[in-house]
Amino acid sequence: MPWNVKEEFKHFKDTTFGHPVIMGRKTFQTLGKPLRGRLNCVVTTGNEVTEQEGLKIFRSLDEALNYCDTLGDEKIFIIGGGEIYRQALESGKADAMILSYMKFEAAGEVKFPNFNADEWEITERAEREQFGIVYYIKKNQKTGLN
Ligand SMILES: NC(=O)c1ccc[n+]([C@@H]2O[C@H](COP(=O)([O-])OP(=O)(O)OC[C@H]3O[C@@H](n4cnc5c(N)ncnc54)[C@H](OP(=O)(O)O)[C@@H]3O)[C@@H](O)[C@H]2O)c1
Repeated sequence: MPWNVKEEFKHFKDTTFGHPVIMGRKTFQTLGKPLRGRLNCVVTTGNEVTEQEGLKIFRSLDEALNYCDTLGDEKIFIIGGGEIYRQALESGKADAMILSYMKFEAAGEVKFPNFNADEWEITERAEREQFGIVYYIKKNQKTGLN
């Protein structure tokens, strides 16, 4: 990531801790190791990443979501990167979003996908020194976050 904001990492950890997280292979490789205290589900077509304690491999986002559904957790977090966020939004599988809007410019190649704001309702906002947090739910949908 093109920034290092401790408070945002803490927000991410506090939000996702204890719940399954789903990510693309590239995001996992930037992390380097499974996130502690969460089942890490990595989506990949290849064999570069192998299963280990706290990490399971899936061949599609759907496969990961279906597995996580069987765990009975009230929340499943899709934590990126760009490709996986795009698939989650385009497939309609994402029913809530928690987005951090950084209050500074940063260079980078991977972006959060565009989404149709009309389809989402803002339920809460929070301000931090270097970023704002916006909580969204998909309109006309019951979610684990509301
Ligand atoms: N700011 C943030 O909140 C945030 C969050 C997360 C990540 N990031 C950044 O985003 C960047 C990575 O994002 P990215 O879009 O390049 O990659 P990504 O979404 O993390 O991973 C893409 C990879 O996931 C696998 N994949 C995607 N769709 C798949 C499918 N349907 N079936 C099977 N495998 C599938 C493929 O792996 P294989 O090629 O192995 O098949 C693909 O190359 C990193 O720089 C990371 O730091 C930022």
